[in-house]
Amino acid sequence: MHKENEVGALKIKHVRKSYGGTDILKGIDLEIDAGQFLILVGPSGCGKSTLLGLISGLEQTTSGEIWIGDRMVNNVAPKDRDIAMVFQSYALYPNMNVKQNIAFGMEMRNVPKAEQEQIIARVAKMLQIEHLLDRKPSQLSGGQRQRVAMGRALARNPGLFLFDEPLSNLDAKLRVEMRTEIKRLHERTKTTVVYVTHDQIEAMTLGDRIAVMKDGIIQQFGGPQDIYDNPANMFVAGFIGSPSMNFILSTVEKTQEGVGVKVESGNKQFVLPLRADAAAKLSSWVGKEIVFGIRPEQITGTVNIQQDNPHITKADCKVEIVEPTGPDTLTFINLNGKEAVCRVHPSEAKRPGERMQLAFDMSKAVFFDPSSEARVA
Ligand SMILES: Nc1ncnc2c1ncn2[C@@H]1O[C@H](COP(=O)(O)OP(=O)(O)O)[C@@H](O)[C@H]1O
Ligand SMILES: [Mg+2]
Repeated sequence: MHKENEVGALKIKHVRKSYGGTDILKGIDLEIDAGQFLILVGPSGCGKSTLLGLISGLEQTTSGEIWIGDRMVNNVAPKDRDIAMVFQSYALYPNMNVKQNIAFGMEMRNVPKAEQEQIIARVAKMLQIEHLLDRKPSQLSGGQRQRVAMGRALARNPGLFLFDEPLSNLDAKLRVEMRTEIKRLHERTKTTVVYVTHDQIEAMTLGDRIAVMKDGIIQQFGGPQDIYDNPANMFVAGFIGSPSMNFILSTVEKTQEGVGVKVESGNKQFVLPLRADAAAKLSSWVGKEIVFGIRPEQITGTVNIQQDNPHITKADCKVEIVEPTGPDTLTFINLNGKEAVCRVHPSEAKRPGERMQLAFDMSKAVFFDPSSEARVA
């Protein structure tokens, strides 16, 4: 936890940004501690790069404050903010070799040659590019070039690292490898990072703290698991997680045991009982329609379920489509007239048109107001 008089590494207070008359950032508040890895994630156009531009100082805030360490930096020039940036398009100088590319910033700052050599050696070792130092960028693969770009940023030894979608130009396999590399690098250096991505998997795997953005507003700010388990609204619930959470419009019903949601699949109706805390919160919703949210891994076959889990209800459903992924088979069913996806162990998977027993685990089910889309339980 944050101590009373400890200085946060980065603090963003009520920051707004507009271009012309258009509000792009509509009041951003964020704070992270030194050494944390902050992810800004959200769909294209939601304002992530704009926020990063304000932190770097390349853009000016319309109002609000940005603090780096114990300094309010609104009026501090970018070069004096003690930051280093890595962008999606990592422009290396084509006529310089790797070593010269890494050294370029240090040359500009008149860092003594001996110190430059030391820093280059350290950075090259860290990124495992020692054998590439004499090569030109054209002689490198995409991943190697990205590594050099990171080396150039690392050579600054900044207080704050800013990344703007640094992996989005790489192919899928390399992206996963570089993701692990960045994580390892952060484990080693413990430098504070702000990392922009539109990829929710990158967000989940890299972030200590995640800010989910939409339309210039932070929808939720928290740890990855907390955001996954306790999404604040339907947007966050649907954006984080793959395949996405199933949203089923259902009626809340009073039952003999308590409260449940009514579901129909292939002409069979059943009621899924709610856990006590959800039932209490939804007592005023009895008879009304609600959006019931359940993740694919919470609807499974019945073989591997925990037998002592009291929140499981089994129901017979008709399989519409199956998609084997290897470790599990995504099984599509119809719930209340809408397609829902379940994660089924391949050994239990059925064929389209067949029926199967599915186990609905309601221990992590979430519920949303259909009109405001806010979480209600
Ligand atoms: N210099 C600018 N002038 C006018 N509008 C801009 C400018 N920069 C960004 N925008 C607008 O701000 C919105 C957010 O852009 P951006 O921060 O790049 O989104 P993201 O990085 O999340 O994809 C977009 O609608 C974009 O068109
Ligand atoms: Mg962007």
